[in-house]
Amino acid sequence: MQTPSRRWRLSVQRLSLALLVLQNSVLVMVMHHSRNRPTGTQPRYLASTAVLLVEITKLLTSLVLAAHHTCTSHPNSSASLVVIHLFHSIFAPDSWKLIVPAALYTLQNSLVYAAISNLDAVTFQVTYQLKILTTVLFSILLLGRSISLRQWLSLVLLTLGVALVQISGPLTSDDWRERLASLIRGGTIPTSNAFKGLMAVVAASLTSGLTCVYFEKLVKDSMASVSLWTRNVQLSFFSLFPALLIGVLWQDGAAIARDGFFAGYNPTVWLTIGLQALGGLVVAVCIAYADNVAKNFAASLSIVVSYAATALLFRMPITLHATAGAAVVLLATYMFNSRPASGGLLLPVSQAR
Ligand code: C5P
Repeated sequence: MQTPSRRWRLSVQRLSLALLVLQNSVLVMVMHHSRNRPTGTQPRYLASTAVLLVEITKLLTSLVLAAHHTCTSHPNSSASLVVIHLFHSIFAPDSWKLIVPAALYTLQNSLVYAAISNLDAVTFQVTYQLKILTTVLFSILLLGRSISLRQWLSLVLLTLGVALVQISGPLTSDDWRERLASLIRGGTIPTSNAFKGLMAVVAASLTSGLTCVYFEKLVKDSMASVSLWTRNVQLSFFSLFPALLIGVLWQDGAAIARDGFFAGYNPTVWLTIGLQALGGLVVAVCIAYADNVAKNFAASLSIVVSYAATALLFRMPITLHATAGAAVVLLATYMFNSRPASGGLLLPVSQAR
């Protein structure tokens, strides 16, 4: 029989994974649109400013959640004691451990902007699935985990399924541009460089695998003593420095001085920022309550969802290839997750078979 805490854990796990599927499906389309829509006379918004605003949003939200957690774990403390507890947990001696993932995630977020500015949404999403492989490899190398034969097989199936959806991708890069141009008359669509986009997405996949495995280890090793939200406050706090100093000031300082911080901002950009911040928080929950590979499977499922949405929105026929691909992705996800339950979705070496 399942204990209430295990049931609670499973519910959080499933809910966060489902939310991630939804968030990922919408984000890629909205973000792609925000980067590639005609800009008119306005300059395109600077990715570095968006990366910084996402970190500020996550920092503030995590701070509220961490304060709530501190209140519930110290029910009889006064407000000032809660603030002191919170301060001590955020600036605990081991908080420096978050400096590396903070820098890597900031780099990854900038790479994702570079990739999506230069590739069509489908190519970006599919190629970014490389992070599944990098995550498994880093999980084996850094966490000493292993995966069963069936799970290896499901990874192969997943790659095949995603490739099938991609072969019949409803919109190529040029299609996107033409359709967007015909949807929004006037203005110029920013030019793109596919090679740059491809390099950026490969680098982002490598960074993603390494960073999320490092973060998972850190969170799970200390979950009893440090709350997930405190870890997230630390992560966002340390992310502010590279985002501000390297991205905003060093890389784009001149453009910001000339055009202003919010040049090119519109509701789509704000929606992108909100969705990204939400995504970061949901990713954190997925990593803590499920694991990184499950999180990446949710991202793969979102390819199927966004394929269907794109096909519907742009009235493209759904091909046999794509339907077969979607079915294979769903089968792979089922195969990966349907195993005797025991803790996380990846097995410790001793339990893998
Ligand atoms: O693509 P991937 O799943 O690696 O993306 C992770 C995203 O989640 C990054 O944008 C990262 O900044 C964010 N994140 C977060 N808080 C965490 C872990 C990841 O905001 N604790």
